[in-house]
Amino acid sequence: MGKLDGKVAIVTGGARGLGRAYARRLAGLGAKIAVSDLNLKSYAEFEGEAKAMTAETTVDEIKADGGDALGFEFDIGDRDAVFAMVDEVVKAWGTVDILVANAGGGRGKPRETTATLVPQDLLELVTRMNFYGTVHSCSAVAPAMKAQKSGKIVTVASYAGSVAGIGGGYAHYGANKAAIAHYTRYLAQELGPYNINCNCIAPGVIETARIVELVGARSGDNEGNREIALRRNGQPEDCAKVVEFLTTDLSDYVSGALIPIDGGWNRAG
Ligand SMILES: NC(=O)c1ccc[n+]([C@@H]2O[C@H](COP(=O)([O-])OP(=O)(O)OC[C@H]3O[C@@H](n4cnc5c(N)ncnc54)[C@H](O)[C@@H]3O)[C@@H](O)[C@H]2O)c1
Repeated sequence: MGKLDGKVAIVTGGARGLGRAYARRLAGLGAKIAVSDLNLKSYAEFEGEAKAMTAETTVDEIKADGGDALGFEFDIGDRDAVFAMVDEVVKAWGTVDILVANAGGGRGKPRETTATLVPQDLLELVTRMNFYGTVHSCSAVAPAMKAQKSGKIVTVASYAGSVAGIGGGYAHYGANKAAIAHYTRYLAQELGPYNINCNCIAPGVIETARIVELVGARSGDNEGNREIALRRNGQPEDCAKVVEFLTTDLSDYVSGALIPIDGGWNRAG
């Protein structure tokens, strides 16, 4: 018996990286998984992500492991498409018990995205894929969760949503992640009376294959991660374990929380 046997989970942005780790972990606990992404083969953009794949897509990986999974390809910023996916999931499996609103990320270079210089197109794109995508996803699953008087929602912020990068670069991303964290507090207030737990995670530097390719790995006790109390970067499983906690009965009395998964990162130190 898995802890999530019979449960239905949606993981957005699940084609690679952290979303893939969440989808596979929840599937391993017995949940049926709907994986959504702009591109279900987005792993192909990064050699390390592609190498890690054991099947064509995350959906195929879950099925190969004996699980139940559906794939959906659309832009998370498209409200109608998000609602249509949830309708299809409910039609197929009867309800939605868990949402991990993971799709998102930054775009642009830090020096070109300081607080007053963020180009309008990047501001709109990053807001659409992070904040709007999160609001659409939570809004779309709420009716099914309210009707059954239970649910677990996990949203995804970032360390950058709590601490401003030195020099002010990536302001559009950090501000979006701060907005997601605060939105989750409102969400928890609205949905708490329906026995729906709503929490937000704030990863630090997590070594997905994409991050390793883009910024290089900094694991181990070295100059690069002196500000991290645990003296190492995070691994996708470090985040997936917290997502397991927040989507199972272990967290039944936790809601409205912002949980850092950053090894005790202290930029002031
Ligand atoms: N990796 C880290 O160190 C880290 C740190 C803090 C926060 N995060 C957050 O965690 C989440 C996952 O991060 P990751 O490192 O796995 O990112 P990633 O870029 O590797 O994966 C994100 C996935 O989301 C999909 N996606 C992007 N835009 C989309 C859209 N408009 N509609 C639907 N899908 C879309 C991508 O195709 C991709 O498959 C993001 O929200 C990110 O901001 C990551």
